[in-house]
Amino acid sequence: MDTLDQLVHQAAADFAAAVDSAQLEQAKARYLGKSGSLTERLKGLGKLEAEARKAAGAEINRAKEAIEAALEARRAALREAALLAQLAAEALDVSLPGRGNVAGGLHPTSRTLERIEQLFRSIGFVVADGPEIETDWHNFTALNTPENHPARSMHDTFYLEGHDDVLLRTHTSPVQIRAMLAHVARYADLDTMPEIRVIAPGRVYRVDSDATHSPMFHQVEGLWVGENVSFADLKGVIADFLRKFFESDDLQVRFRPSFFPFTEPSAEIDVAFMSGALKGRWLEIAGCGMVHPNVLRFGGIDPERYTGFAFGMGPDRLTMLRYGVNDLRLFFDGDLRFLSQFR
Ligand code: PHE
Repeated sequence: MDTLDQLVHQAAADFAAAVDSAQLEQAKARYLGKSGSLTERLKGLGKLEAEARKAAGAEINRAKEAIEAALEARRAALREAALLAQLAAEALDVSLPGRGNVAGGLHPTSRTLERIEQLFRSIGFVVADGPEIETDWHNFTALNTPENHPARSMHDTFYLEGHDDVLLRTHTSPVQIRAMLAHVARYADLDTMPEIRVIAPGRVYRVDSDATHSPMFHQVEGLWVGENVSFADLKGVIADFLRKFFESDDLQVRFRPSFFPFTEPSAEIDVAFMSGALKGRWLEIAGCGMVHPNVLRFGGIDPERYTGFAFGMGPDRLTMLRYGVNDLRLFFDGDLRFLSQFR
């Protein structure tokens, strides 16, 4: 039989050879477990005389303590090794350059809308809005476009299945009606009612898609209603706005007679630049006119007393002209290579 010293040596060697805690616990069982070699020796003590048992017992206990100490030392070493391995595996290289924060920017159309709002605010306009899912009544009927009116077919749009009376608005003009109704509701005394001066930017929808038309696009509606508001005011406000918007004093602005059911007389607004790539070409950017008496009436306003002008312009078109972009679809593709140029 091995001596106790040999046993302690053997145990320490076995423990040292264990590469993980599972192997170490198995090795431990071989010595200290129920039928481990040290345990067997303890059991053998019963056969000895009292004197001899005491001496042998003390020795076995010393050996046991030595084995337990070796076991504990190996456990600590394995824990340490496991920690080091984990630290190595999860190491962060703090010298690597960071990912960085890319600064976002406003969409070019948003920039244009902000600029338009700012310019109109400076002459006393307030910003209004209305729903994109609009009632047929606001979008057409109250704008002097009754059912079966041929002008409705020029506004081919998206209708909602099962809801005949609502559609995706084809223009921002329904906000004219909403603004007038809200205004007369707010000012109970129409005799001292302040003027209405609103612009309404927003998304509109039509069945249209090519380089200069998108099924969703933007408009900015303008409405000024008061006593003695005239076509001359309309021309002045628009021409002044456009020269400021394009930062060009020699911009040419032309009002070309046209037709809209909700204005009378009506005109298209064209601009021409006196320099640059588009020099001398007339480009249509808005529709406008004096608000039709029927429309004022639908808005709760007395057409005998008040007059007004309205316009609806295409800020996407204005953005294309201002930045020299020739395909409208680029604005809606969400391609950062294009959009980040406007940051
Ligand atoms: N709503 C018209 C359109 O979308 C534009 C317009 C607005 C014309 C206001 C006159 C007055 O074409």
